[in-house]
Amino acid sequence: MKVTISVIKADIGGYVGHSSTHPEVVAKVEEYAKAGVEKGTLLDASVITCGDDIAIVMTHTKGKDNEEIHKLAWDAFVAGTEVAKKLKLYGAGQDLLADAFSGNVKGMGPGVAEMEIEERKSEPFIVYFADKTSPSAWNLALYEMFADPMNTAGLVIDPSMHDGFTFEVMDVYSGKAVKLETPRELYDLLVFIGATSRYVVRAVYRNRDGEIAAVASTQKLSLMAGRYVGKDDPVLIVRCQSGFPAVGEALEPFARPWLVEGWMRGSHTGPLMPVSFKEAKPTRFDGPPRVIAAGYQLCEGKLVGPNDLFDDPAFDDARNRCALLANQLRRQGIFEPHRLPPEEMEYTTLPKVLEKLKDRFVDIGEPEAKAPGSGEGEIHE
Ligand code: 13P
Ligand code: 13P
Ligand code: MG
Ligand code: MG
Ligand code: MG
Repeated sequence: MKVTISVIKADIGGYVGHSSTHPEVVAKVEEYAKAGVEKGTLLDASVITCGDDIAIVMTHTKGKDNEEIHKLAWDAFVAGTEVAKKLKLYGAGQDLLADAFSGNVKGMGPGVAEMEIEERKSEPFIVYFADKTSPSAWNLALYEMFADPMNTAGLVIDPSMHDGFTFEVMDVYSGKAVKLETPRELYDLLVFIGATSRYVVRAVYRNRDGEIAAVASTQKLSLMAGRYVGKDDPVLIVRCQSGFPAVGEALEPFARPWLVEGWMRGSHTGPLMPVSFKEAKPTRFDGPPRVIAAGYQLCEGKLVGPNDLFDDPAFDDARNRCALLANQLRRQGIFEPHRLPPEEMEYTTLPKVLEKLKDRFVDIGEPEAKAPGSGEGEIHE
């Protein structure tokens, strides 16, 4: 049976501030998801939360980008927003950028990750869900899951994975995407996805047969007033076992924390902390950024789960190291590299302050220079 897994997520109000969701808001979204199952639009649905974000994990037979499915999620978030407004929650309806639904939630604020698959004899998959960061937070994890044999033993010892995987990478500014095949083009891939402020992994495919292996919510990153704002708290779907990474191989990158963009006001660097569902309530300096892993087994389109996969003391050390990294970074306060450079910040007062002081900038006889990173010919040997 062909089944589509659609995960659509939004922040429709924080409780308190940006730290968490309110149970009444989640219950309203669940009510709409359940009604979708009862009506037969959906095969099944599961509502999960991370920080102030809510995701609806849906299964159905209508394929990707289906209007009815997207509208169901949109309506659920609009109804949830009404509850959030009634409680005067913070940023009620934050991610609903459009006034009315128009065919597809992409570009309207909510994040979307969808894949259509032929359900295997056993179909385990993981929905990762992060708060206080951006979709490029998955770049390093996806590289390790699908292209690094030091993380994923299966790339070496499982014949069905041995041909490797192809990554689809999007340039968030041009909106163009490129497919790169690993291991052959691994170094080309890393040139791009190491540059997390510009390039984001959209999807991963298995080389042997082109099967979809992973998909992230990057299709339409929010552009506000014509400016790219990349801090949409992201979701990621990863298929596991039998020709894909084992569940433990897919979780392993998160056992060694790394730094991502987001945190306070979407304008800081911080460690991505893997947590259980109940610990996904970032409060310290609105963070540090969190990620949960919701494991499901698909059974004739029904969702058996979620299983809270980071609820394992083996991840305690990662959590402790994130807390130590948080201490170290917080030491630098408003100074870079803890605070992001001006072009990466979600909002900034720099232009206003520059404007105010423009007449006080005087020529001191230094030559003008081009900003670095513009590209060509910059070879440092
Ligand atoms: P079990 O022997 O517990 O089934 O584990 C098999 C396995 O391959 C784990 O990665
Ligand atoms: P969210 O993107 O989770 O709403 O966080 C915004 C923010 O400004 C946190 O300080
Ligand atoms: Mg928020
Ligand atoms: Mg959020
Ligand atoms: Mg955010």
